[in-house]
Amino acid sequence: MEGKEGKNAEETMKLPDKKITMIILFANQKGGVGKSTLAVLFSNFSVQKKNRKVKVVDMDFQQSLYNKHLNSDLLENEKLYEVELSKISGFRNIRKEAAQVPNLLTVIDLAGTMADDNLVQVFKDSGLIICPFCYDEYSVTSTFEFCYVVKKINPESKIILIPNRVKTSVKYETLDSVNQALSKFGELTSPVSDRIDFQRITTSYSPKTLDPILDPIFNKIFNDYIDESSWEVETI
Ligand SMILES: Nc1ncnc2c1ncn2[C@@H]1O[C@H](COP(=O)(O)OP(=O)(O)OP(=O)(O)O)[C@@H](O)[C@H]1O
Ligand SMILES: [Mg+2]
Repeated sequence: MEGKEGKNAEETMKLPDKKITMIILFANQKGGVGKSTLAVLFSNFSVQKKNRKVKVVDMDFQQSLYNKHLNSDLLENEKLYEVELSKISGFRNIRKEAAQVPNLLTVIDLAGTMADDNLVQVFKDSGLIICPFCYDEYSVTSTFEFCYVVKKINPESKIILIPNRVKTSVKYETLDSVNQALSKFGELTSPVSDRIDFQRITTSYSPKTLDPILDPIFNKIFNDYIDESSWEVETI
């Protein structure tokens, strides 16, 4: 190493043993709130606009994200990242692999269920939990319960709540009280409106028309939780 004394150089060489990496979950026990959709859009953003290395893991038995990726592959679009399938019980391996690739963002799309004991480890070891939800009654109750359980498992967990599929024509009477209740668990982002162009996303393409809605949200997540953090997953 340039200009360094032998001993210092040796010490410096030892330091990068630490693998800076991060596991980001898209999760909510409520189905259909946009977990897979936002996981894809976030992953596309991370590669295309933040130049990050990303691996996506589909842990939902419905495999919707994985199938979307296969379709995108068939169309021979440029691949932005790998997508792999895993059971929730495979989390230990995912974590191990994440620890071996410095600066990797591992994005996990979870199924809308809490009925799996292996989830405890997943919630304990994830650096960030991104939780899309909708303002309808059932979605809010489920989201509240989900956040409550996650915080019980890991009080340190960082939860980001994204109001999704918000209809501009609808007046949500309970919006303020819902926001207030949910903000006890984590940070609420600005709302994502219900728009037809969400049907056009692929694992290698995000419609530009979504940029004004999603870029500020994803940029803030990077600024506040990812860029400055030195996330570290120990090799086990
Ligand atoms: N903001 C939005 N505007 C319009 N449609 C949306 C929006 N977000 C998601 N959708 C659509 O809602 C449906 C459900 O979204 P998605 O599959 O991402 O939800 P999910 O939470 O992953 O569901 P599941 O629990 O079944 O895995 C999809 O058809 C998706 O295209
Ligand atoms: Mg899904």
